[in-house]
Amino acid sequence: MLRAAGEPTRLRILALLARDELSVLELCTVLEQSQPRVSRHLKLLAEAGLVQRFPDGAWVFYRLAADGGGRALADSILTQIDPADPALAQDGERLSRVATERSTEAAAYFARNAARWDEIRSLYVAEAEVEAEIRKAVGETTLGLLVDLGAGTGRMLTLLGGQASRTVGLDLSQQMLNIARVNVGEAGLAACELRHGDIFATGLPGECADLVTVHQVLHYLGDPAAAVEEAARLVAPGGRLLIIDFAPHALEFLREQHQHRRLGFSDEEIGRWLEAAGLTLETAAALPPASEQGLTVKIWTARRPALAKRNAA
Ligand SMILES: C[S@@+](CC[C@H](N)C(=O)[O-])C[C@H]1O[C@@H](n2cnc3c(N)ncnc32)[C@H](O)[C@@H]1O
Repeated sequence: MLRAAGEPTRLRILALLARDELSVLELCTVLEQSQPRVSRHLKLLAEAGLVQRFPDGAWVFYRLAADGGGRALADSILTQIDPADPALAQDGERLSRVATERSTEAAAYFARNAARWDEIRSLYVAEAEVEAEIRKAVGETTLGLLVDLGAGTGRMLTLLGGQASRTVGLDLSQQMLNIARVNVGEAGLAACELRHGDIFATGLPGECADLVTVHQVLHYLGDPAAAVEEAARLVAPGGRLLIIDFAPHALEFLREQHQHRRLGFSDEEIGRWLEAAGLTLETAAALPPASEQGLTVKIWTARRPALAKRNAA
């Protein structure tokens, strides 16, 4: 492990992965090194248990090992690194540029497609079926605050807002929010607040919502685990988080044509993120596509333990 970490480029890679989960190509851009060289370094780091490799369609992502001796050693090494080290500071700047480019491209895509969004969505799945399943998962209960993160054109808000006394929809795209404003107005949801904001830092108070929804957002994000953590933070004791996204798939064209970053998520991955955020995964419904080429939609429901249960535990 020490041999793997004790080489300048590999040390730089560890410092970068401590900040973000990254694809091989992104690491090549930041390190300004060729793909074969970077891949060789990553192989050594993965074999030593310092980083974790996870293939996602034709891409491969890397992050620091989740736990174990490799993670402990990586954390310990990273605390010894001088944050002002010029090489690492330069990598940090390049990484910020890569992250900005990534979100600018995604934002431009959403701005371009805001008006056509509902049409684009229906290319993937039978929307009515998904919405019926979401309704079933939420049930008839009356909700206090409903928060929808990555609200887009306001579909979740109009679907579930009638059950809540207050709704907040948050999105990074002003164009999407403009359309959501019209849609929630038409649905008569007067108590709906639409905010311009980032799912990674919502600015909302902790444990404030009875229901938080994240519908078809995670696969666009650079760090979906961090988004799940922030979404979970908002869930009140006894409240729920609903994540709707795709099961793992191989439709690479969604990356080039529709800005998808991740090709779906496994139950294991989502379950692990939820558990780390203090929530319990309760159900994982799967809606298979009508044709073989389609996408399976997943609906994961998780709950924050009620206070009495938490205290008893
Ligand atoms: C595929 S749309 C889904 C919208 C809506 N949830 C729906 O299903 O109709 C994804 C939305 O996530 C938003 N989004 C992407 N990155 C975001 C971020 N970092 N913070 C907040 N919203 C984001 C986009 O602007 C877009 O409106």
